[in-house]
Amino acid sequence: MGAYTGIRATRNMLAACLLLTAGVATAGIWDEGDIEAGQALFNANCASCHKVTNEVLAAPGLAGIADRWGASDELLVNWIQNPQGAAESGDAYIRSIVARYVPTYGWMTAQAVSPDDIKNIMAYVQNPPDVVATADSGSDCITVDEIETIQETNDSGVWFLILLVLFLIIALSAAGVNRSLTNAVNQNAGEEPLEELPYENRVRNWAWNNRLVVSLIGLFFVAYGAVLGYQGLMRVGVVEGYKPSQPIQFIHSVHVCENEVDCKYCHHSAYESKHAGIPSTNVCMNCHKAVKKGRRYGETEIAKIYDAIGFDSESGTYLDGEGKNGFISPQDSYEGDPIRWNKVHNLPDHVFFSHQQHVVVGGLQCQNCHGDVETYTVGRVAKVDDINQLVDKYPGLIELSKPTLTMGWCIECHNKAEIDLASSGYYEEIHHRLKDNLRGNEELRKYLEDDKITVKELGGWECSKCHY
Ligand code: HEC
Ligand code: HEC
Ligand code: HEC
Ligand code: HEC
Ligand code: HEC
Ligand code: HEC
Repeated sequence: MGAYTGIRATRNMLAACLLLTAGVATAGIWDEGDIEAGQALFNANCASCHKVTNEVLAAPGLAGIADRWGASDELLVNWIQNPQGAAESGDAYIRSIVARYVPTYGWMTAQAVSPDDIKNIMAYVQNPPDVVATADSGSDCITVDEIETIQETNDSGVWFLILLVLFLIIALSAAGVNRSLTNAVNQNAGEEPLEELPYENRVRNWAWNNRLVVSLIGLFFVAYGAVLGYQGLMRVGVVEGYKPSQPIQFIHSVHVCENEVDCKYCHHSAYESKHAGIPSTNVCMNCHKAVKKGRRYGETEIAKIYDAIGFDSESGTYLDGEGKNGFISPQDSYEGDPIRWNKVHNLPDHVFFSHQQHVVVGGLQCQNCHGDVETYTVGRVAKVDDINQLVDKYPGLIELSKPTLTMGWCIECHNKAEIDLASSGYYEEIHHRLKDNLRGNEELRKYLEDDKITVKELGGWECSKCHY
């Protein structure tokens, strides 16, 4: 008996303590947090589903949550740490959000954040400093119509031809007008009209009378043709600008620029392996389970994702049922039709290229090789000239001149790119050993003279590094 009351007493005391700490921790939950710390926490834990504006990502936007939240502060903490547990409290506000959102978005997942973390997050959500800035810079995102015009007007050769045809039309009609006028003048003067020669003969006569001009024009065309031919030969095997059409009108700018989704979210294996990879349909569903409509294509394009994976957007359920932890295996029973993305970049089989080596070890930005992807619709092979124009936007880009994906391009960069010796202990060690061996070794002295080491100097020009 005594033992039992003892236990009960301790339990009550514990509960009281817990309540007390909870009370302390949740006091001022809306107005005492640290905005900067909150931003980091928000980005790490909440940003994959919530925005701090009114916009919906994979869950309602959190703007105005302080005014909207209709339950106690403690229940807010409970909700974030364990939504389904909080729902069991039976609180009316929580019941209302569950009824309103869960059928569309599914349950919010429990978040491993402390009450203090939540205080900081709420401070940030209410005063997001960079939202003011991105609201302006958000309009910097190129619209899809703009992308298409930029990509299409890049071709100066076409313009040259159009101008040439226009010029010919004008020249011919001017000649015609000239002829009619001369005829009219001649008739007025009572003379015979010009002789009606066939058109060919007239051209031939004119050409003979203007030999110099005609030969100059001829010379120009021969030279122009030679230059075009040379350029054409130099571009054999060059795939710059290649942009195949894709089964879904996926728009990089909508995701990367407007919605600030990191490349890593979809191409994370670029940091871990040779391949950057294309995201599986499950990755799309993290957001598109909720985002059912786009501003440009309405429901049609996003519906293709649902067809591929077998998702009924009206009921919000997977056709073969949702697997454990929301993980979906479309192969199980739904005869889905996987999205068949067309490959854009494709090095020959005899070449070895590793993303991890370049992105993680080399510290290169994706834009150095792929261009300004945040202004693209679908993926395409960037042109080296376009990449060079990005140096202001992405500081640290290495400017190159050879067409992308050619051997010359790889080689040129390996000759220019420096290895950052300071940030890597491994290379620092090599550096020291080289320096110790310097005496009498002219070959090594040449390398170290400029006090920088390029990829080439570490063997980046050896055939076997890139060729199987
Ligand atoms: C996996 C997606 C996901 C993550 C991550 C997530 N939430 Fe949620 N959140 C939801 C969904 C979905 C809802 C709507 C209710 C529901 O369907 O469960 C919601 C609802 C909420 C609400 C109630 C909104 C309202 O209008 O009353 C708050 C507050 C909230 N989340 C805060 C957070 C915070 C803070 C974090 C980060 C620590 C977070 N959420 C992380 C998906 C998420
Ligand atoms: C991190 C969240 C997220 C992921 C992951 C994601 N999307 Fe989106 N997607 C969005 C948002 C937000 C929109 C914008 C809807 C709007 O406002 O137009 C969108 C829009 C779209 C649109 C419609 C564009 C329009 O304007 O009509 C398509 C198509 C689309 N996404 C395809 C995909 C595909 C395919 C994948 C997977 C490879 C994917 N998305 C992954 C968030 C995401
Ligand atoms: C040094 C240049 C370089 C950098 C930096 C680079 N890539 Fe690549 N990327 C390539 C080349 C070359 C290919 C073609 C590979 C092949 O065909 O084997 C490629 C292919 C790809 C593909 C197609 C799928 C695949 O794996 O072949 C994707 C997606 C991609 N890159 C994304 C990225 C992302 C995201 C980043 C930044 C994290 C990045 N790349 C950084 C050169 C680069
Ligand atoms: C929401 C998901 C998503 C994000 C974020 C995203 N991509 Fe992609 N990316 C795709 C999909 C889907 C494709 C395949 C369709 C296509 O080629 O457009 C693709 C294709 C590519 C390709 C061409 C692949 C090939 O076949 O060779 C490159 C390169 C690429 N992305 C680079 C990037 C870079 C760099 C970023 C960040 C600035 C980025 N992507 C962000 C989904 C994404
Ligand atoms: C924009 C610059 C750039 C381009 C373009 C580039 N590389 Fe590299 N590459 C680097 C850097 C920087 C490193 C060194 C990374 C490190 O510190 O180990 C590197 C390293 C390598 C290595 C490892 C070399 C070694 O000594 O171990 C290989 C293999 C390689 N690159 C292949 C390629 C191929 C193939 C291409 C063309 C398809 C290419 N690279 C294009 C910058 C580039
Ligand atoms: C930095 C990486 C790199 C190094 C080092 C390198 N190559 Fe290459 N090589 C490539 C790439 C990438 C291609 C494919 C180019 C293409 O498809 O246009 C290629 C293509 C080739 C081809 C085929 C040409 C063709 O038109 O398909 C030959 C032959 C070749 N390399 C020989 C060599 C020899 C010999 C060496 C050493 C002296 C060497 N490579 C060093 C990257 C490299």
